[in-house]
Amino acid sequence: FGLALAGCSGRGGHDGRTVLGFSQVGAESEWRTANTASIKSAAHDAGIDLRFSDAQQKQANQISAIRSFIAQRVDVIAFSPVVESGWEPVLREAKAAHIPVVLTDRAVDVSDPSLYVTLIGSDFVEEGRKAARWLLQNTPAGDGPVDIVELEGTVGSAPAIDRKKGFHEALAGHPRYQVIRSQSGDFTRAGGKEVMEAFLKAEGKRINVVFAHNDDMAIGAIQAIEEAGLRPGRDIKVISMDGVKGAFEAMMAGKLNVTVECNPLLGPQLMQAVAAIKAGKPLPRRIVVEESVYPMESAAAAFPTRKY
Ligand code: AHR
Repeated sequence: FGLALAGCSGRGGHDGRTVLGFSQVGAESEWRTANTASIKSAAHDAGIDLRFSDAQQKQANQISAIRSFIAQRVDVIAFSPVVESGWEPVLREAKAAHIPVVLTDRAVDVSDPSLYVTLIGSDFVEEGRKAARWLLQNTPAGDGPVDIVELEGTVGSAPAIDRKKGFHEALAGHPRYQVIRSQSGDFTRAGGKEVMEAFLKAEGKRINVVFAHNDDMAIGAIQAIEEAGLRPGRDIKVISMDGVKGAFEAMMAGKLNVTVECNPLLGPQLMQAVAAIKAGKPLPRRIVVEESVYPMESAAAAFPTRKY
């Protein structure tokens, strides 16, 4: 990292501003839209020249964007990796060009830790645990089965892997709780609805709980549950992640039981990290975002202050 910093100083844009190349996953969810808006407005406020690229949920597009940032000789590259694996070659190219890399939101799986400076984002494993803890505390006492279906995020992505891990880990040792089906809905509303329709067709009224890896898939699942003539939030409990406004609206309508917050407003922290890198200041390897859990009962009071 020290070497990378030495090489990056003084590059800058034509007007002397710091140039940040950012490769975004896509626009798959309400969370992602809020994340993009946060990054764009924080760059504007910090006077940073942001070169923004939308990968439309394809790793190949992110790799091309990073190569293009290297060719443009930007000061810093940041990206939110669509999946965890497959980044070593392009990150080695960035390192060879002495361009520091910051990860936002999601982790990468690399053997060489010097390939990025820091990761700014949530603890997804803990988010999964929080969802499971809520379920353990909010299931009526008894020893009847609690049959859960799981709507997973994008296959191979850090939040899908980690939320699943945390949720299953916290339920282990509680045999009453069984995840009876699990499939990816790719973090989209359409994906969540389609997969939930298939779950309902296969399992019908046996399903007690939906655990969705994000709010958008939960909202899609709520539609599927209603179309099947069941009451989301009552006949089937719905648990999700993110805490976007759409989830608060669903909670206020009594259709979603709880959302575990995942804060997308990472722009200001990213710009601070970029400034620190430019100034040669050290950064922690991991910058974790503080987050809450919002059960249905708290939704109306919290809604007016929600920022995304
Ligand atoms: O990486 C964060 C996740 O990605 C959010 O939970 C989800 O909504 C988004 O698409």
